[in-house]
Amino acid sequence: MKTNFPIDKFKEIRTPFYYYDVELLQKTLDTINSESQKYENYHVHYAVKANANEKILKQINKNGLGCDCVSGGEVQACLDAGFTSNKIVFAGVGKADWEINLGLDAEIFCFNVESIPELEVINELAKAKNKVAKIALRVNPNVDAHTHHYITTGLNENKFGINMEQLDDVINEAANMENVEFIGLHFHIGSQIEEMEPFMNLSNRINELQEKFEAKGINIKVINVGGGLGVDYVTPDENQIPDFKSYFATFNKYLKLRPDQELHFELGRAVVCQAGSLISKALYVKEGASKKFVILDAGMSDLIRPALYEAHHVIQNLSSDQELETYDVVGPICESSDCFGKDEKLNKTKRGDYFALRSAGAYGQIMACQYNCRTLPVGIYSDELI
Ligand code: LLP
Repeated sequence: MKTNFPIDKFKEIRTPFYYYDVELLQKTLDTINSESQKYENYHVHYAVKANANEKILKQINKNGLGCDCVSGGEVQACLDAGFTSNKIVFAGVGKADWEINLGLDAEIFCFNVESIPELEVINELAKAKNKVAKIALRVNPNVDAHTHHYITTGLNENKFGINMEQLDDVINEAANMENVEFIGLHFHIGSQIEEMEPFMNLSNRINELQEKFEAKGINIKVINVGGGLGVDYVTPDENQIPDFKSYFATFNKYLKLRPDQELHFELGRAVVCQAGSLISKALYVKEGASKKFVILDAGMSDLIRPALYEAHHVIQNLSSDQELETYDVVGPICESSDCFGKDEKLNKTKRGDYFALRSAGAYGQIMACQYNCRTLPVGIYSDELI
């Protein structure tokens, strides 16, 4: 099935570019709000790392979500887009002093802290400003997310978080520091998680921890379960909006939230992925010895996920409805890994045909680079085309 891309309106725009369906993003945000608001004390943050375009951040802010940042640059982008500082959480395994200071000056909601040395630096920098920084400790729960090894984060072998065995010591240490206030626990087990089971396992792990801490009289106000909800990369038109209903219901069913306790989420991919496509034009159709190649004007510098994670994005020829032929779809960059798909069945293609690489709204434009001195792709929005 071909989706509705207004290619007649693309003519004046230099390819490749990212095209965002603003209406679909809005429907997705509406679903997130209606599904999460079924439950008391659920707070959804948007993981800015997925896409930090100003227009997208503004739309997300307008819909009341908070944001989850992993760098000073992201904190600044969120402040610039109008997010109030009490909705900003700041995670990351290596926060530099200037980044911590930016968070302290803005008085963000919470720092998600990943180690004792980091805790000590936050305490010291907060002291110098005569402030108290709210902190949550990122726990490595050793829960398998069953996802690609590059995007799994919650196992003991990963660099993220504090091991559960060390947690007691870190909480005690935090309690003795004057310029940090311990408010909660933070988790994130990985990304592109397509089953609910890992979230159920995470909930059970959190329940065990809660009981342990309660027995010790430690009060946890906030639990942050991170992000990770996956999207349908294979049939994006059939599942344009991820299954937020099951996602929030899983936490509601399994995670025993105490009265007045807040449950925070940090969803990135699930919010923006299906709303974005990379639009490109066929430069050449080349007959190889045993294969036919479509050479696009978009390459791995524009969308690195296939080269980096062996990810596959649905590829559609938007200009042709002729019979299907088999092609390898590649980019113009001087690397063999600059390949978007092998043996793709595509409508018969000629030079100048428009192509869409689907499900590219998350970790697409934001991960683009200028390798080969290429220009960074811009973002074009459905409501701005004339
Ligand atoms: N919270 C934390 C602490 C994270 O590390 C991440 C993602 C998220 C939330 C958001 O996860 P999401 O809901 O988007 O799954 N570049 C990779 C994905 C890297 C994800 C890193 N952390 C990709 O293109 O698949």
